[in-house]
Amino acid sequence: MLEGFWYIAGESVAVRAGRPFAAVLCNQPVVLFRDGQGRVHALENRCSHKGVPLSSAWQEGDSLRCPFHGWRFISSGECVEVPAIGNVAHPSSTSACVKTFPAEEQDGWVWVYIGNDRCPKPSAPPPSLPVPADGSPMVSVRQSAEAKVRWDFAVDSLMDPAHVPFVHNKYFRRREAARKKEKVFTRLPLGFRTISQNVLLPDTFIFRALSPGLGSATTTVDFVLPGIHLERWEIGKRFASVMLVATPLTDERSRFDISVGWNFLRGLSLGWLVRRTLRTILGQDQEVLELQEQGFGQKGGMLLNLESDTLAVWYRRLKRYRLDQLAGVPNPQHPVPEEVTLRWIT
Ligand code: FES
Ligand SMILES: [Fe+2]
Repeated sequence: MLEGFWYIAGESVAVRAGRPFAAVLCNQPVVLFRDGQGRVHALENRCSHKGVPLSSAWQEGDSLRCPFHGWRFISSGECVEVPAIGNVAHPSSTSACVKTFPAEEQDGWVWVYIGNDRCPKPSAPPPSLPVPADGSPMVSVRQSAEAKVRWDFAVDSLMDPAHVPFVHNKYFRRREAARKKEKVFTRLPLGFRTISQNVLLPDTFIFRALSPGLGSATTTVDFVLPGIHLERWEIGKRFASVMLVATPLTDERSRFDISVGWNFLRGLSLGWLVRRTLRTILGQDQEVLELQEQGFGQKGGMLLNLESDTLAVWYRRLKRYRLDQLAGVPNPQHPVPEEVTLRWIT
């Protein structure tokens, strides 16, 4: 688990007024609730009295009342009312407080910041779906899928070019149309980027929707910690973007959340079709990653020595780099070269 980052707890629409919502992020149970102004708050999902999950609490105004002995908590985490002592605040206010987490909404997701002593507060807002430079409006859709897979494997799949023609055959390209690619990668503060100009769009239904004549595109793909893949596609005035996030729920479970946005054909109701396609694609990843987890569980170890596995190696080293930065290690070395060309066939 990597602390000091924003993680997606769920879709904004899932956190409804008056209905506390349970989530688990980085092994941490969290309860989300929406106050009278519509703002979302995140508290530890555990009453400080005897541990009942506060997601089972009933919401009273902008506070949560535990169903066991009626302690009432406000969004700052304070216990402001204990019925057994006459409906007054708990006398040991610090130990009766429940922990709180910064929470923000962005692009239809609720993001919760999981910090620690070294990075208790976020230094930037949550990540967002890339938007077109010309400011043209976009429509966007979201989809999520949980998998019984450790987080490292889920993150690997966000930047594993070699799995695409196999796991997602016919979606992003056809397996038989695989060809040699050369990608120039540059360094980002906690990740890496590759920009490709004049990319000939593969002949699949996804790219036919993006550009019926399959024109040439400029694409930008970023990977940044903790597990975020951002992608921009530009074909003339048409723009589409993707944000794919892998989130650690527990040591054994992860979730993928994907947003896709586009600035063309906005009048057509394509959202349901895109959502359905995203569900299929995430299901393909889920299935193969759960198989990987089964096999890996029998005997650990991986062979990551091909050029197409370089990104997985960088990811592991980026995590170490980040932990060294937080630990105050002098001059930690960024694992990604300032510029490097990688080659593979996909
Ligand atoms: S367990 Fe919550 S009030 Fe007792
Ligand atoms: Fe995939």
